[in-house]
Amino acid sequence: MELRTVEATRYVTPLREGGSLPGLIEADDLGMYVLKFRGAGHGLKALTAEIIVGELARRLGFRVPEIVLVNLDPALSKAEPDQEVQELLATSGGLNLGFDYLPGSFDFNPVIRDPGAELASRLLWLDALTLNVDRSWRNPNLLLWHRDVWLIDHGAALYFHHNFRPGWKPADSYRFDAHDHVMLPAAGPLSNLDVTSQMLTEVLELVPDDWLESDGIFTATQARAAYLEFFESRLAHASSWLNDLEAARAARV
Ligand SMILES: Nc1ncnc2c1ncn2[C@@H]1O[C@H](COP(=O)(O)OP(=O)(O)OP(=O)(O)O)[C@@H](O)[C@H]1O
Ligand SMILES: [Mg+2]
Repeated sequence: MELRTVEATRYVTPLREGGSLPGLIEADDLGMYVLKFRGAGHGLKALTAEIIVGELARRLGFRVPEIVLVNLDPALSKAEPDQEVQELLATSGGLNLGFDYLPGSFDFNPVIRDPGAELASRLLWLDALTLNVDRSWRNPNLLLWHRDVWLIDHGAALYFHHNFRPGWKPADSYRFDAHDHVMLPAAGPLSNLDVTSQMLTEVLELVPDDWLESDGIFTATQARAAYLEFFESRLAHASSWLNDLEAARAARV
């Protein structure tokens, strides 16, 4: 299985909210996508985390906008008056990451709509598994669309990959601070989700090889093996971090 690849045909507008300067683009399939640029400061590791965590979430039953690879011709920058955007386009030739644009969606706030204890618990667990530190009540990175909660923005997850070096091994434990997680007040009792090794292999296959090799440390095969090792170790240690998470949750109720 592969992600669909589309060709960017028009840069529509920047989405000013985003820290990585995401933009709205139109593609040759006439779809509109939120584009995360390979040339943006967050880099290819952030885009890699978006694919791995977003696609794992989808396989676990969460709603995630379709993720596509977007081929971009840097010549598109010539039509762009804004200098910052022009530079972003000019340095982002090749494959970028796109998310199906959800028109009319808005930021999800659990005060406005109760997410339900089950979704809240499951999402808290997913973020703890993947070390996603970007789901606080200040910046939940959740959209409400057609009355459902959609997950976005997983670029800060899997932060251990910034430490990849030859001989890298997963740690027995990782810092994951749940106290300002947007779902903590709504979550019910926590339990492990069923992450299968087939899911993990599948999602790792979706990441373009050259993104995995971009830091010059691992080959794509080695990088996939390293991510897989992380997940296997994190799952093997789940009872320990699940305990901490449950304690944080129980303290809130
Ligand atoms: N698929 C989508 N459909 C509609 N709007 C979206 C979509 N993805 C993102 N947005 C909007 O764009 C904003 C920025 O997106 P996102 O959080 O993914 O970018 P970011 O640069 O990583 O942001 P930050 O680092 O500031 O959290 C979101 O808060 C949301 O309002
Ligand atoms: Mg965001």
